[in-house]
Amino acid sequence: MINLKTQYAGLTLQSPIIVSSSGLTNNAERNKEFEKAGAGAIVLKSLFEEQMEMQSDAMLQESDYPEAADYIRGYIKANHVENYLELIRKSKELCTIPIIASINCYRADTWIEFAKQLQDAGADAIELNVFFLETDIHHSCEDLYRLYTQILKKVKQVVTIPVIIKLGKYISNMPALVNQLKANGADGVVLFNRFYQPDIDLNTMQLVSGNVFSSHADLSDTIRWTAIVSGKIPNISIASSTGVHDWEDVVKCLLAGASAVEMCSAIYTHGAEIISQITTCVEEWMHQAHYESLDQFIGKLNYANIPNPALYERSQFMKYFSNRD
Ligand SMILES: Cc1cc2nc3c(=O)[nH]c(=O)nc-3n(C[C@H](O)[C@H](O)[C@H](O)COP(=O)(O)O)c2cc1C
Repeated sequence: MINLKTQYAGLTLQSPIIVSSSGLTNNAERNKEFEKAGAGAIVLKSLFEEQMEMQSDAMLQESDYPEAADYIRGYIKANHVENYLELIRKSKELCTIPIIASINCYRADTWIEFAKQLQDAGADAIELNVFFLETDIHHSCEDLYRLYTQILKKVKQVVTIPVIIKLGKYISNMPALVNQLKANGADGVVLFNRFYQPDIDLNTMQLVSGNVFSSHADLSDTIRWTAIVSGKIPNISIASSTGVHDWEDVVKCLLAGASAVEMCSAIYTHGAEIISQITTCVEEWMHQAHYESLDQFIGKLNYANIPNPALYERSQFMKYFSNRD
């Protein structure tokens, strides 16, 4: 009997397939459809700090009463947060799988107090989408690590549910950061978020958006860092994210050491049915490989469990090029 149950960040999931935070998960009825298709959990669309600020700024520009600034900012925040709390309550009402709330933040000192409200509304965990691309030439890696750690610590002070950090992949020493986050109470990490992809339109000579969706080619970095982080820091849950498009990708991420995967682009492209198709294929693969549960093979090919872990590192990359004509 095949069992797809997995332990992720203190949560028990019936399947390792999590629907990523995005517009897909902004609707409770749709979240129920993902559950019916076999999703193990849902990460709700992020509550965006920056979006609230931009909306407040736009309203303030139109306002003739500068003294109303605090009121307008407070009102917009409260309104955004209340809508979000309603999404949590409704999703919890309809679904039985874990509902993970997501906060997008880039500062450690402002509105993290809302985290407690997300917990009170019924969220089973919080995913911190720390969407921050460091570009300040006067900042060091330590400054960035400190920012992540401060945000995490502030949230951990106000909630008791699991806290997961979703990281971007442009971080110089990923295992060191994850180790620091784990030491400060992180229950899991998502490797990785995918940043907005800028492109240049040569006709208009303007910056435009590149492909919003990932492709299969994006999976390699996800596998590499899942394998390295899970091999070096054994007791932190990892959800592999970015470039997971089919059942083989799911199995590869589990072999690399993920307890779960998050999927977004593939679900946007193929709809909720892809979750049930992937589930069937993973079960079939497990049957043929004589596995009954995921813990029999999670991490089997991670950095700690293969004879030559350097394969996950750069030396192999050089070997590849030196062997090419
Ligand atoms: C249209 C769209 C909206 C997204 N919105 C969010 C969001 O609100 N919060 C978040 O953490 N990630 C967001 N993401 C990122 C996805 O959750 C995911 O990390 C990324 O797309 C990589 O996964 P994939 O390769 O399966 O698409 C969004 C992605 C897309 C394409």
